[in-house]
Amino acid sequence: MYCLNHLRGSEMTQDESKRKAAEGALEYIKDVSILGVGTGSTVNHFIDCLADFNLTQDIQGAVSSSIATTERLKKIGVPVMELAESGNLDVYVDGADEVNPLKQLIKGGGGALTREKIIAGASAKFVCIVDQSKTVDVLGKFPLPIEVIPMARSYIAREMVKLGGQPIWRENYITDNGCEIIDVHNMEIMEPLALEKAVNNLAGVVSVGIFGLRPADVVLVAKETGVETL
Ligand code: 5RP
Repeated sequence: MYCLNHLRGSEMTQDESKRKAAEGALEYIKDVSILGVGTGSTVNHFIDCLADFNLTQDIQGAVSSSIATTERLKKIGVPVMELAESGNLDVYVDGADEVNPLKQLIKGGGGALTREKIIAGASAKFVCIVDQSKTVDVLGKFPLPIEVIPMARSYIAREMVKLGGQPIWRENYITDNGCEIIDVHNMEIMEPLALEKAVNNLAGVVSVGIFGLRPADVVLVAKETGVETL
């Protein structure tokens, strides 16, 4: 590690950036007894932080957005609850695949978009943690994930072609909800709200990975110079 950093002029790796963003989120969970927790490698760092900073005793429980996150939370001793029993949450911490200046997001690279959208919607504050590579001016370079009912897959793919995208089926992948994912490439999403509504309205769509109707409230971007708050 020393040698690599020396050669790079001590630039942070993407993984180190994700950890920095995750540490930044700890500021937002003080006095929160039940926490919403997202999915992905940045969130895994956040869960590691809960353990590393001995915060697990302060948390009564967590509502998790995926089976993977549930397992990780349980491993560090955080009880996992259903959203139906917890009621609405004060804070939800999650990563993103892309973030624009309006704090609108693309999510779902890890396939957990629907549960993530539900928990984000049920939370008073959505704290999004990202490394700088995730920030964009216009959403859409990252392929847009859409979770679909399996029988609707080809129909929705054809509809997405009409909307200007190139859909690719995420083969051999089943979501925690038993559904499938289409990743739509080459979308330049100039109007995230309009596209989110249009795709949500297609029969067979479970949810689309645009988080525009419910954007993040706070975005913590880890940069070389520190963690910037949007
Ligand atoms: C999972 C997600 C993740 O938040 C997103 O894919 C970012 O992942 P990572 O933190 O691994 O870069 O939306 O469905």
